[in-house]
Amino acid sequence: MSAEDRLGLGTGGLAPRAWSRSDAASLDLSGDWRFRLSPRADAGPGFADPGFDDSGWATLPVPSHWQLHGYGVPAYTNVVYPFPVDPPQVPTENPTGDYRVRFQLPGGWDAERTVLRFEGADSLFQVWCNGQELGTSTGSRLPVEFDATAALAAATGDDHLLAVRVQQWSAASYLEDQDMWWLSGIFREVRLLARPAGSIGDWFVRADYDHETGAGTLRVDADVPARVRVPELGVDAGAGETVPIAAVEPWSAESPRLYDGQLRSEGERVALRIGFRTVAISDGLLTVNGRRVLFRGANRHEFHPDHGRAVPEEVMLADVRLLKRHNLNAVRTSHYPPHPRFLELCDEYGLYVIDECDLETHGFEPLGWRGNPADDPRWRDALVDRMRRMVERDKNRPSVIMWSLGNESGTGRNLAAMATWARQRDPSRPLHYEGDRSCADVDVYSRMYPTHAEVDAIGRREEEPLEDPELDARRRAMPFILCEYAHAMGNGPGGLWEYQDLFERHPRCQGGFVWEWIDHGLRTHTSDGREFYAYGGDFGEPLHDGNFVADGLLFPDRTPSPGLHELKKVVEPVRISGAPDGAVRIDNLYEVLDLSHLSFEWALDEEGVAVATGQLKVPALGPGATTTVPLPDLPPTDRESWLTIRAVLATDQPWAAAGHEIAWAQMLITPARPTPARPAPAQDSPSTLLVGPPLGRVTDPGEGVGAVVHTPLTVGPGTFDGATGTLLRLGDLPVTGLRLDLWRAPTDNDRGHHGEAMEPLWRRVGLHRLQHRIDRVAVEDGDLLVRTRVAPAATDLGAVVTYRWTATDHGIRLQVDIVPEGDWPCPWPRLGLRMGVPAGLRRVEWFGRGPGEAYADTGRAARVGRFGATVEELQTPYLYPQENGNRRDVRWATLTDEAGRGIRVEGEPVIDLTARPWTSEHLDQARHPTDLVPGDRVWVNLDLAQHGIGSASCGPGVLPAYRLDPAPASFAVRLLPLT
Ligand code: GAL
Repeated sequence: MSAEDRLGLGTGGLAPRAWSRSDAASLDLSGDWRFRLSPRADAGPGFADPGFDDSGWATLPVPSHWQLHGYGVPAYTNVVYPFPVDPPQVPTENPTGDYRVRFQLPGGWDAERTVLRFEGADSLFQVWCNGQELGTSTGSRLPVEFDATAALAAATGDDHLLAVRVQQWSAASYLEDQDMWWLSGIFREVRLLARPAGSIGDWFVRADYDHETGAGTLRVDADVPARVRVPELGVDAGAGETVPIAAVEPWSAESPRLYDGQLRSEGERVALRIGFRTVAISDGLLTVNGRRVLFRGANRHEFHPDHGRAVPEEVMLADVRLLKRHNLNAVRTSHYPPHPRFLELCDEYGLYVIDECDLETHGFEPLGWRGNPADDPRWRDALVDRMRRMVERDKNRPSVIMWSLGNESGTGRNLAAMATWARQRDPSRPLHYEGDRSCADVDVYSRMYPTHAEVDAIGRREEEPLEDPELDARRRAMPFILCEYAHAMGNGPGGLWEYQDLFERHPRCQGGFVWEWIDHGLRTHTSDGREFYAYGGDFGEPLHDGNFVADGLLFPDRTPSPGLHELKKVVEPVRISGAPDGAVRIDNLYEVLDLSHLSFEWALDEEGVAVATGQLKVPALGPGATTTVPLPDLPPTDRESWLTIRAVLATDQPWAAAGHEIAWAQMLITPARPTPARPAPAQDSPSTLLVGPPLGRVTDPGEGVGAVVHTPLTVGPGTFDGATGTLLRLGDLPVTGLRLDLWRAPTDNDRGHHGEAMEPLWRRVGLHRLQHRIDRVAVEDGDLLVRTRVAPAATDLGAVVTYRWTATDHGIRLQVDIVPEGDWPCPWPRLGLRMGVPAGLRRVEWFGRGPGEAYADTGRAARVGRFGATVEELQTPYLYPQENGNRRDVRWATLTDEAGRGIRVEGEPVIDLTARPWTSEHLDQARHPTDLVPGDRVWVNLDLAQHGIGSASCGPGVLPAYRLDPAPASFAVRLLPLT
């Protein structure tokens, strides 16, 4: 292909213009095209000849990626290029797809000119119509149009042939190093557009809103004479005229009011969907219609587990609805402009968008940014061309409130050129780019993954100064956003609430965008046909970044992860809380809406069972306002009782039905009765030493514990091995390996891919291979006492652990006292007990927090109640197996078989509960959920605490309040057999 391609530019494309819905004829060429894949890009162009015989070719759907249809394989890298960095050269081995499609123009094709439009093809393509070359293009996620008029006219009959050659690698690949699968081909629609005489080339809708007067101003510029009509507003004006409108309803994410209109030229009518809104930066704050916005956002890549970035329209709609249903109000289109239909949906449903240019040169960072295209003048035109194609395509979308120059492309003159071009073309939208800390070219200060402490400092405008005082002063006056934070990889993210608190406390901190919306796991099958989601390396890529591609709030099938439930709770736009004197406080955190669209429902539960329900009268409180309302009259209750107040949609919304929950809170009405104090062991009571030093060790980490049975001992319903003090049975129920547990299968955040990594420390210390030495087994005042020292080999670190078993009314109580020894260099993963019970005990019921998993710093979405699930349902299927499924603050739980037999566990007062059909060790070893096979035990963990989750897979670790630093601790549980 031509020399220009080598620097990331195409040839022959028409001037970029707005995306449109028009009444001019068009022909969607989506469907099965003839296709062949060659290993290199050097085959002759003979296939573009209409007479070429393609009968030996297969077919490939357009739009799609060829790697997802059996041609080559997907490959994943985050930062690095999967080819030698020698710009603009690319490998000789360059998979190249040749496409052919025949078509006929429909009858009545009224066209002075016919334009061929590609919405997206990855990465470089060359196109011919009826054997004539129309041009080339790069910019995978950007549209391009070619004039096909002459080529169509050259056909001898009605049949036309379109031929396209797409290369996987091109100079432009150096500009498209986003953290995602490398996937090639024509993955968005291809259309022919009739351009009648007098049709509209381009138009630019400017619809401003004056929040002080409530007036709107409308001006639609067009490149041909045209009239603008908005019947609802009585507007009938010429293109280019500025039309003042005395009163309009503004557009915002919360209230996405659109006015339908039309732009009509002699030859064409274009549909307009107009949203009046003004984006400004005033007094250091980013405002929409005069109000500070707070982004409750997510970074959205386009992804589907079967189709990659060829996302079907109904899936775009599903995303928009899911975002809205989870209280999110903003999307950053990381890291390229999405399909234009997605933006239309954002206009319609109400989401603020940071539209990001298709640019990332991250792979130059490991090279010290040597040769970075962002600063090499030879690439200037290619970068400006990308910005231009995005802005021109999306400029009429009210949802787009900021342009982003791209992502992680270092700093440089070409970024400045992009910014200059965008400012001149569209001064109405602020500019964003995170990669240049000086903020020289942008209007908002944006960062990714700073710690809470740093956000706090920035919120106070007390951040570390830049060297250049002028730039520093400029930046310090800017609003601040987190374009990425709270890395949602695997279990987590932790610490969301603490960020939200900063966003609500510091006006300058205007929220952020969680990384990221969806796991990019590709649906795959094991050799025996079991489905799983593949990540980097699963296709044999020699260079890859593993499961770092799976870091979303949604699982690949778009099931919300626990992280999304947590985010929804943390960012809820209404805050309900207890107020003094038996009142309920309601804070309306909406920016635009009052509370009239919500109804407030309450329910009183006694030990998780509803005893009364009702409606709470809440006034139509305005945005930003606070009120208190009296608590409802509640019937008296005896056992632990909670009042749950829920704010739900009062009427159907386009994105959720009436009754959909927006916000909730719980208040404790009747506290739990204190657990009866355990009878104190009599002082100086005689103790019978059953076993004393010297002793053998019990080191088997799993099923084998207590395999050698000595004369059994009983305490209440418990039967113990007389030599080791190990619980063997509870009533008739066999129990395996009950003992202290400090280990968890490391989470992605423990692994700390790009943050403070705990896992290596844990393994170095040996927390995954603890030995349990029994020092003393004694009966003392009827209690069984077992003293052990738990420690890893090769170190003097350890903990003295004493188990005291006491018979209770119907069961047995276990008190555990732990005294760490030595100077532990790290927190412990968990502190609790584990045991195995027969696999038949699959049904779990509990009174505690649920229904979902929760950890110390991720538990806001879990409410106190009574819940039930099977053991299988308690598992969260993170793409890379890891600790999951913990239920917090469990007062009691039962694990039973079909007949209701099993075990009841009670906390004093609460305990964390995990139950899984495999051990933590199996979980630790597994690489995909399909590696996990249920065994003959359900493994139960009863924890006093676990180390928090944090966000260190990319970002800060666990906040101090949620660390589990070794310290003396005691806790107790009661175990009761259920027969
Ligand atoms: C950021 C980057 C994202 C993604 C994320 C980690 O640095 O902008 O594209 O790689 O880190 O998942």
